Amino acid sequence: MAGKIIDGKKIADAMLEAAKLRVAKLSKKPCLAIVIAGDDPASLVYTKKKHDACARVGIESRNVKLPASASEKEIISEVKKLNSDRGVDGILVQLPLPDGIDEDAVLSSVALEKDVDGFHAENFGRLALGIGKIAPCTPKGVMHLLKESGVSVSGKNAVVIGKSRIVGKPLALLLLNEGATVTVCHSKTRDLATHTRGADIICSAVGKPRLVTADMVKEGAVVIDIGTSKENEKLIGDVDFEKVKEKAALITPVPGGVGPMTIAMLIENTLICHQNRK
Ligand code: GUN
Repeated sequence: MAGKIIDGKKIADAMLEAAKLRVAKLSKKPCLAIVIAGDDPASLVYTKKKHDACARVGIESRNVKLPASASEKEIISEVKKLNSDRGVDGILVQLPLPDGIDEDAVLSSVALEKDVDGFHAENFGRLALGIGKIAPCTPKGVMHLLKESGVSVSGKNAVVIGKSRIVGKPLALLLLNEGATVTVCHSKTRDLATHTRGADIICSAVGKPRLVTADMVKEGAVVIDIGTSKENEKLIGDVDFEKVKEKAALITPVPGGVGPMTIAMLIENTLICHQNRK
C-alpha cells in the first residue's frame, strides 16, 4: 500500500486560525511567558516560533532571557515572579536547561495552573492517572494528528521509541489512556525491530536519522516521526521516510508533521490555562 502523508502543517494552521478567532472574542488578551536560560541554538529557534505563533493568534508573549550562567535559584526566582504576576496566564521553561540545573526542581516551581507544558510533577502524575487538564504539547499534538487522520488508538499495538519527559513518557501515557497496548523502547532495548514489527502505530522520538527503516515496519502501520536532527543543515527525522512511506498506511514528514502541532498545542494549552484562571 502506498503511504499517505499526514499534513501536520495544514492541521496546525487550521488550529491556529481557530484560536485566533477565539482570542479575538476575549475581553483580555491571554499572556504566555517563555523562560529561556542560555543560548542553545535549537532552543532559540523553537522559542522564536512560539513567540511568533502567539503574535499570529493575538496572545501576548513575554521573553524572559537568562544567561547560561544563571543558577537554579535565579531561574526559580524568575519563575516565582511570573507565578505571582496576575497578568501572566501561562509559563513555559524551555528545555534543555544549562548543565547542572535540576530540571525537576525548576519545572515543579511553575504554578500548577500556569503550567502550559504539563511538566510539573503533579500535572505529570495527573496525566498518568488519566485525570489531567493539561498534556505536554508534542504528545498532545501527536494524539491530535492521529485523531484528525481517523486513526482509532483503542486496542492497537503502539510502540513509542524514546522515554523523554518531553515526548516519550507522556505520549506512552496518552496512548495508554486511550486504550492502546503500549511498548516503550529506548536506548537499552535489546532488539528494537522485534517490537516495531508487531506495531500498528510506531512513534519515534529519538533524534537519530534513519533509526526506523522499512524492514522494521509492518505493512499498513501508522508511523509518526517526532525525532529531529540536522544532516548537512537539513532537518530530518528518525524515519527513513522515502522507503517507509511505501509500507505505511499513514506517515508524518519531517519537517511539516509533528513540529507545527507542538506550537498549535502550546497555544491551545495557553488558552486552557487562561480559561481556567478566569
Ligand atoms: N524543548 C523541546 N521541546 C520542548 C517543549 O515542548 N517544551 C519545553 N519547555 N522545552 C522543549
